[in-house]
Amino acid sequence: MITDVLVDHSALVPVVLGIVALTCAGAGYAAVRGPRHRASAGSVPARRGHPRPMGFYGRHLRPRLHTWALNDRITGEVRERVCSGLAGDVLEIGYGSGLNQPHLPPAVTGVWAVEPSATALALSQDRRDASPVPVVVAGGDAQSLDLPDDRFDAALCTWVLCGIPDARAALEEVARVLKPGASLHFVEHGLAPDPDVVRWQRRGNPLNKVVSRCLLDNDVDALLAASPLTVTARSASYEKAAPKVAGYMYEGRATA
Ligand SMILES: C[S@@+](CC[C@H](N)C(=O)[O-])C[C@H]1O[C@@H](n2cnc3c(N)ncnc32)[C@H](O)[C@@H]1O
Repeated sequence: MITDVLVDHSALVPVVLGIVALTCAGAGYAAVRGPRHRASAGSVPARRGHPRPMGFYGRHLRPRLHTWALNDRITGEVRERVCSGLAGDVLEIGYGSGLNQPHLPPAVTGVWAVEPSATALALSQDRRDASPVPVVVAGGDAQSLDLPDDRFDAALCTWVLCGIPDARAALEEVARVLKPGASLHFVEHGLAPDPDVVRWQRRGNPLNKVVSRCLLDNDVDALLAASPLTVTARSASYEKAAPKVAGYMYEGRATA
């Protein structure tokens, strides 16, 4: 087992985050690149998705697993940091079941949620009802947004890019709809700095492709560098409680 080799065995959290890594791209099956995608001059190759109908697991179980796995104290602390400073109208790609909703600062006037999973959106209903911040469901595919240019004051993305078939297209779309100078707030797991860990990430990828379409070695730095966004704040480190294959977290801000 990958996790037997590399896990910090400290709690249930490692198992949980491992499961997240193995499941966090499921809805990407349903996401198709739209006709509005523009070619990029960046050097990061696009990951072409292979859309196919989702089965019972993808439609009903995976969104519930995400909600369970990403709803603990540690992820709550991360969400609080990542949401800090958001204000005005915010685009959130990969909204999931709305777990960021309780962490939104009062300065946020609305959230435009992009999420392909009807189950995840249904699971978000209680959090939306409990929140003073109104939510507009604004489509199901971050790779092709039916939203105007220069529309949003900020954007939010938490543990999403690893599962979008063409994450480069999604970042281009985010850059397009952000007002000039507005920022994407992000946290993503991805490519580890240690060759030994990267080897295990690459060994784990085929399994992930079968189970969930989630990349363990998602090169977050390269994706951002190839995007029209400019990274203005960045930290990257292993989440101590997580398996190293899935626990190298990139957190920061990138400005349009
Ligand atoms: C691991 S979950 C994270 C959910 C949420 N951001 C959170 O922090 O709890 C990844 C989410 O991305 C969504 N997703 C997958 N493909 C997508 C796409 N092409 N566009 C937008 N969201 C997508 C999935 O349906 C899922 O809800």
